[in-house]
Amino acid sequence: MKNYLNGLNRELKQLILLAQSIALEQGISAYLVGGFVRDLILKAKNLDLDIVVEGNGIKFAEEFSCRLGAKLIRHKRFATATLILRSGIKLDIASARKEFYPKPAALPQVIPGNLRDDSYRRDFSINAMAIGLSGKDAGRLIDYFHGQEDLRSKKIRILHSLSFIDDPTRILRAIRFEQRYNFKIEPDTLKNLKKAARLKMLEKTEPQRLRDELIPVLKEKTVLKQIKRLRELVGFAFINKRLLLSPKNRVLFKAAESQINWFKKTYPKRRGLDSWLIYFMALLDSLATRDIKSVCRRFAFRKGEAKRILNYKQSNRVIMGELHRSQVKPAKIFSLLEPLSYEAILLIKAKSKDKKINKYIADFFKIYNGMCISVSGDDLRKLGILPGPYYQGIFAKILQAKLNGKISTKEQELAFIKKIYRY
Ligand code: CTP
Repeated sequence: MKNYLNGLNRELKQLILLAQSIALEQGISAYLVGGFVRDLILKAKNLDLDIVVEGNGIKFAEEFSCRLGAKLIRHKRFATATLILRSGIKLDIASARKEFYPKPAALPQVIPGNLRDDSYRRDFSINAMAIGLSGKDAGRLIDYFHGQEDLRSKKIRILHSLSFIDDPTRILRAIRFEQRYNFKIEPDTLKNLKKAARLKMLEKTEPQRLRDELIPVLKEKTVLKQIKRLRELVGFAFINKRLLLSPKNRVLFKAAESQINWFKKTYPKRRGLDSWLIYFMALLDSLATRDIKSVCRRFAFRKGEAKRILNYKQSNRVIMGELHRSQVKPAKIFSLLEPLSYEAILLIKAKSKDKKINKYIADFFKIYNGMCISVSGDDLRKLGILPGPYYQGIFAKILQAKLNGKISTKEQELAFIKKIYRY
């Protein structure tokens, strides 16, 4: 155990020690499991601790949250609980369980089980290893399905032939892990994956579960590689039957990647980007608006996400057309871009081959975005202008003059008001 824990940061080590001591106090067997163990062996960073206990996982989680003073989110259906710590570490705690699939692609029914049952219900051998935290197994790597061997030979292997039929979202997961780690889906597993694809198992799966596995694909570092492999093995009919990855899409994907990198490097302190949303918009780019609306509805994206996707679709051509004209004034650039999300603006920048448009957008981020005026309603009152709806109009004119570089200081704003307002 010591060997595995060596590379971990102090907080993770302390959490693992706490888990050990709670397991000892409650007299139960607890294990580190899943992706955390996989990445521990691969020496890859992972801040999602996954713990399984043979016994009452919720009671174990309650004690954990009590000791840490952290909020606990309970998921009753599967007797699991999640703790999210201030440092960003996520802790999932579950009771060891056995799963049955009442029908293909449905959510499983669960009954209590032991570690072996719990390992057998998992997706791939590399995700089915455990490290004991207490009792006779303390510090021991438990590897029922040869996960270590598959890690060494870089293979993604399912544990039984019905794995993709039971849970078709594993198709997306197999591709994601294969591309992330530069592994290969092992031949039998690949045969089963293709069979599940032929049986259209993804199309038979609840769209929201697909969304929850598609977003991580789009969050991977190697996103274009991921999407290409997805296209090769299963296509995109599970998103929309008209969706293809055309050479144009691929170029847009690449350009989107450079724009995301440019933005992150140039503005490291601006609000975080939802890069996955930019890639998703790029993927959907060739679809008609009505198809995109239907994807958003089926996948039940959050309101803010669906709004950004549709805003981009509905406005990108108009905006590129407007910015393509010669001599676009800063106030115009501002009024066109300010209502859009950063994600949409960056994809427009990626899509446009016009250097002028690129420069306008770069100027927008550098100078105009978030620009505001210094005078307030109080200042207007002091100038003897009675409060009324035209206040907004005055503010807009000041902002316009400021954007166009005609004024900059508060004094100049006040002088500008006196000039434009007739008492
Ligand atoms: N799991 C599974 N089948 C799924 C989803 C998850 O068997 N459809 C199991 C796997 O053992 C996985 C664990 O649950 O390792 C945790 O799942 P998740 O957090 O989604 O993935 P990780 O393996 O931790 O991968 P990542 O590094 O992307 O978080």
